[in-house]
Amino acid sequence: MVEKGLFITFEGGEGSGKSTQISILSKLLTEQNVRHIITREPGGTETGEQIRKILLQGNIDKLDSYSEFLCFAASRREHLKKIILPALSDNKIVICDRFLDSSIVYQGMVGGVDEDIILKVHDEFCYKKYPDLTLLLNVNPKIGLGRKNKTTLDENRFENFKEEFHELVQKKFLELAHKHIDRYRVINADNDKDFIFNEIIDQIKHFFSITL
Ligand code: TYD
Repeated sequence: MVEKGLFITFEGGEGSGKSTQISILSKLLTEQNVRHIITREPGGTETGEQIRKILLQGNIDKLDSYSEFLCFAASRREHLKKIILPALSDNKIVICDRFLDSSIVYQGMVGGVDEDIILKVHDEFCYKKYPDLTLLLNVNPKIGLGRKNKTTLDENRFENFKEEFHELVQKKFLELAHKHIDRYRVINADNDKDFIFNEIIDQIKHFFSITL
């Protein structure tokens, strides 16, 4: 059994199935009486959810990468202060759908914001908090966008970028995962949902040497 708070983030491109996998994982942890919370970015707090609307709804070009990053960072600071850090201090597992690495990839590596500035802002204003484990759900963008298009969403600002954008996002996430291989595990998310879930559970068990 897990004794101390653990911070697990899920990252990946559009339609990689993060939210589905997180809810199955949460169900399993609840059945096993493992204390945990699930949360997401942008969002997680009331203000964060308001910032989420600004970021994810509307025209593609309504904000540039710099303004986007500052909004994501503001949402992240509130999220850490009010939700993530208190839960970790209370020895809970925190499972977060996207975190800092999404800013590094989307606004930084793809959007052109200097990665050093992103990290500096994170260290200065976001408590220098990094995940213990990051699971990258690596999906072929064609498969991912196909999954997403099955539903009608109004939070589709990022999905409306061109296909090359999503291919670049996938490539850059893989680069980031290789750079931080100590805390990253890459999951093949082209598979069906049960297969992906088994892989996620295996990785969590091995990474923390725990039984689930
Ligand atoms: P969401 O609907 O949660 O997409 P997904 O289901 O693919 O996670 O939308 C989150 C979007 O916000 C997604 O396109 C990635 C983007 N994003 C950033 O660009 N930077 C960030 O720091 C975060 C947290 C998200």
